[in-house]
Amino acid sequence: MQALAEARANIALVKYWGKLDAALNLPAVPSLSLTVDALTTRTSVRFDPSRTLDALFIDQKPADPRALGRVSRHLDRVVGSAAANARMFAEVRSTNDFPTAGGLASSASAFAALTLAAVAAAGRESDPTKLSVLARQASGSAARSILGGLVLLGVGTPGQVDSSFATQVASEGEWPDLRLVIGIASEAPKEIASTDGMNQSESSPYYAPWTSSAPADIARAMDAIARRDLPALGAVAERSALRMHACALAADPGVVYLRGPTVEGLHAIRKLRARGVPAWFTCDAGPHPKALTSPEDAAQVARALAEVPGIQRTIIAAPGKGALLLDGQRVSA
Ligand code: DP6
Repeated sequence: MQALAEARANIALVKYWGKLDAALNLPAVPSLSLTVDALTTRTSVRFDPSRTLDALFIDQKPADPRALGRVSRHLDRVVGSAAANARMFAEVRSTNDFPTAGGLASSASAFAALTLAAVAAAGRESDPTKLSVLARQASGSAARSILGGLVLLGVGTPGQVDSSFATQVASEGEWPDLRLVIGIASEAPKEIASTDGMNQSESSPYYAPWTSSAPADIARAMDAIARRDLPALGAVAERSALRMHACALAADPGVVYLRGPTVEGLHAIRKLRARGVPAWFTCDAGPHPKALTSPEDAAQVARALAEVPGIQRTIIAAPGKGALLLDGQRVSA
């Protein structure tokens, strides 16, 4: 009846941006990410026959109705609809080891941990493929946090809910010599949710070329991973991020996640690279510049990002594990 799970954030090197089937949350493009060892969410789910409603606490505080609604819908999806009296209501407690208001991706680690905890608490058997299909329906990127290391999320077939799932390309131990340096540009919540930014991006004249060019980026990234070729993987990552933002910027109205420190971060990373430091830029649906680099160079890259005006702090992340169940205890109140 209760379970505790942990999952980590992931950062896409080849971006997911756009939906093939919005109702089933099937992605329009394949994506490839690195699950990181920083940015962890722990979530407990306790089904309780005496409850008359679901309850959600994030970092010990009652969550807002919108977040609770999203979690309730996910519990319905995972174990059946409460409205149809098919499941008990639950108390869900989630804690992050990073500030949730920080505009850092928290939906991936949150929905991966929630999916695993809810499936276990409901006593259901599952495997990573099924867990990723469930997590994907709540948030596409959450499917990838079910697995550790380098993870691929495929495009599915419209109308088929289980047609898009995550697969591991290389575990965290198979290519440990990767680092992602995150420059925190703002502690404010992001202004345009990814889902809204993606929907808006369909109006971009670059949307069709964006979706049609993504499979070639995946092929190059897979090849780079097979050869453990950091410069080749970095080049694909930087291009994919810039193309995603180009697509979003050209929407009508334009979707602008880039801020001054984001663009200056890009230039700082390229300047380092011109000096021979292996570092490549990426950026998600927010203002934080991120760099893919090697363990030897991570501290130097972090120092360079920290010097960019507007960057408040940096995080160095290594490849991390997939979602896992912890010993049945609840997240402390
Ligand atoms: C820019 O997974 O948050 O981080 O499926 O609508 O919940 P929804 O979107 P979400 O989008 C992530 C977008 C991205 C790129 C990526 O992680 O691949």
